[in-house]
Amino acid sequence: MTAGVIGQPIAHSLSPLMMSRWIDAAGLDAIYTPYVATPHMFAPVVMALYRAGLKGLNVTLPHKTEALTLANRISDAADKIGAANLLTFVDGEIHADNTDAVGFISSLRIAGVDPKGKSVLVLGAGGASRAVTYGLKDAGARELAIANRSLGKAREIAREIAPDTEIVGWDNRNGLLDQVDIVVNATSLGLKGQIPLEMEWGQARDSLVAIDTVYTPLETQFLADARNRDLTGIDGLGMLIEQGKPSFEAFFGVAAPQGADIRSLLETKLREAK
Ligand code: ATR
Repeated sequence: MTAGVIGQPIAHSLSPLMMSRWIDAAGLDAIYTPYVATPHMFAPVVMALYRAGLKGLNVTLPHKTEALTLANRISDAADKIGAANLLTFVDGEIHADNTDAVGFISSLRIAGVDPKGKSVLVLGAGGASRAVTYGLKDAGARELAIANRSLGKAREIAREIAPDTEIVGWDNRNGLLDQVDIVVNATSLGLKGQIPLEMEWGQARDSLVAIDTVYTPLETQFLADARNRDLTGIDGLGMLIEQGKPSFEAFFGVAAPQGADIRSLLETKLREAK
C-alpha cells in the first residue's frame, strides 16, 4: 500500500515522519512518500499517482483549492471550506475531503476543551480560518466572531460557512476578550519569520483558552503571553497530528495506532530543524 503528501515546498513536511511512525506501529506493509509538484504539474502528477494505484494523497500548499477540481466526489467540509487536504482513490473515483476542521476540533477536545456551546473569537480569514470556522460551527459553538485585517474575506466566511458570525475589525480584536471562551490564532502571524501576534490578554476572562494553528515555533508569542497571564494555551501541533489520523485511516483502512508517541517524535524533529 502506498500513499503520500503532495505540495511545494514539501521537504519540511512532518507528515511522512508521522505517517511512517504510525505505519510501523500498526505493523503495515505500506509506505508514505512526499511528492513535490509545481502548480502546473499538480494535476498530471496526481493523475499519474492515481493510475499507479496509490491509496490517496494528502494535499498541502499551494494545491489545496486546486485539489477540488480533480475530485469526482467532494465532502461537505471540503466544499464549504473551499479546499481539500485529502484525496482518496476509491473504486475508480477520486474523493476530496478536508480533515483540518475535524483535526482542529479534536485537538481542542484532547486538551479538555469542548467547543459546544462556547463563544469563540477566530483571528484571521484565510484558509486556516475557513477550516477552523467550519469545525467550530459543526461542533456546536454558540457564538462566533472573526477579526481580520481585510473585512471582505471575513464576511465571505460568514456568508459561506457560518451565517451568524460577528465581523470585527482587526484593530478591535481585543474588544471581545472579556466575552469569549476561546480565541484561535488562524492568521499566519507568529509563524517563524513573521511578526508576532500581540493580544491584550489583561482584558480576558480567567477561564479563556488561547489556541494557535501555528506550530513553528511551538510556543508563539500569542501563547506565551496568554500563559504568562495564567490563561490556558494550546499549541498547533495537536491540530497537525489530529488531521493526520483520519487520513491514515482513509488510506490504510485501520485507525492510527494510539501510543505511538507521535508528539514527542515531532517535537524532536522541530527542535532539530531550528
Ligand atoms: P492560511 O491559509 O494559512 O490561512 P492565508 O490564506 O494567507 O494563510 O491567510 C493569512 C491570514 O493571516 C489572513 O487572515 C491575513 O489577513 P488578511 O486576510 O487581511 O490578509 C492574516 N495576516 C497576515 N499578515 C497579517 C498582518 N501583518 N496583520 C494582520 N493579519 C495578517
